Amino acid sequence: MKVLSGRKDLFLLTQTTTPNKNVHSTYNFIRRLPAECSLDANIFATDAFRESMMIVEGIVTSVDAAGHLNIAPMGPIVAGDFASLLLRPFQPSTTFNNLAATRCGVFHVVDRVEVIAQAAIGKMAELPPVEVAVVIDGFVLKDCCRWFEFTVDSIDASNARSRMPSSIVYQGERRPFFGLNRARHAVLEAAILSTRLHLLSRQHVVDMISFLEPAVEKTGGTEEKSAFAMLKDFIFSQPETTSPSDTT
Ligand SMILES: Cc1cc2nc3c(=O)[nH]c(=O)nc-3n(C[C@H](O)[C@H](O)[C@H](O)COP(=O)(O)O)c2cc1C
Repeated sequence: MKVLSGRKDLFLLTQTTTPNKNVHSTYNFIRRLPAECSLDANIFATDAFRESMMIVEGIVTSVDAAGHLNIAPMGPIVAGDFASLLLRPFQPSTTFNNLAATRCGVFHVVDRVEVIAQAAIGKMAELPPVEVAVVIDGFVLKDCCRWFEFTVDSIDASNARSRMPSSIVYQGERRPFFGLNRARHAVLEAAILSTRLHLLSRQHVVDMISFLEPAVEKTGGTEEKSAFAMLKDFIFSQPETTSPSDTT
């Protein structure tokens, strides 16, 4: 299989199931599963698993039927210690199309945010280095902490945000997680904001950026500062598409 190109037709989110959050509650790299979330995979339905579930933000690589690689930030619901994943790619998105076509992909736990920021706004000048996946037909990022090759068990495409309970068929570790850093979390939040501009009021976006920016300035390195600046430029170059009364 050959890596041919990236993609990018962005900003395709048409709805969100994320409940309203204030600035402080969104400031988490790993978001707790909303209590009202209903789950459709058996493994996600038990009390024991519900207790340990989280939405973990990371990167999904997937390929289309011709083997073209796609890289996208995604936040699957993770059960237990990565016992299984519930992916929720929106339709239409390249990740949705690829996973629906090939029924497999790779989820990466990462501690650097540059690729997340670039992929979120379609500004990946070139694809990051990858290796062929061990078990599934796909690719693993060379720069990641852990990776989880998965197969999609079933697809519920009845809503714009699809649901794909998936089984981990192989996992690997490249290097230890570097450590928590406020600037990296802030870039992550800004990247999420950049994909939801059509859902958010301009005032909310301005407030969020104002809240996040000091953490980047105080605790970030060059990579975090430049990723945040890139996202900020992108965000404020977009026309406002929501009315001032809209909220998250
Ligand atoms: C940290 C993060 C997590 C995200 N999680 C999801 C998700 O779970 N589902 C989704 O459809 N989009 C999610 N997005 C938005 C997608 O990454 C974005 O819509 C992207 O353009 C989809 O790319 P694709 O068309 O290549 O699949 C997330 C974005 C970020 C920055």
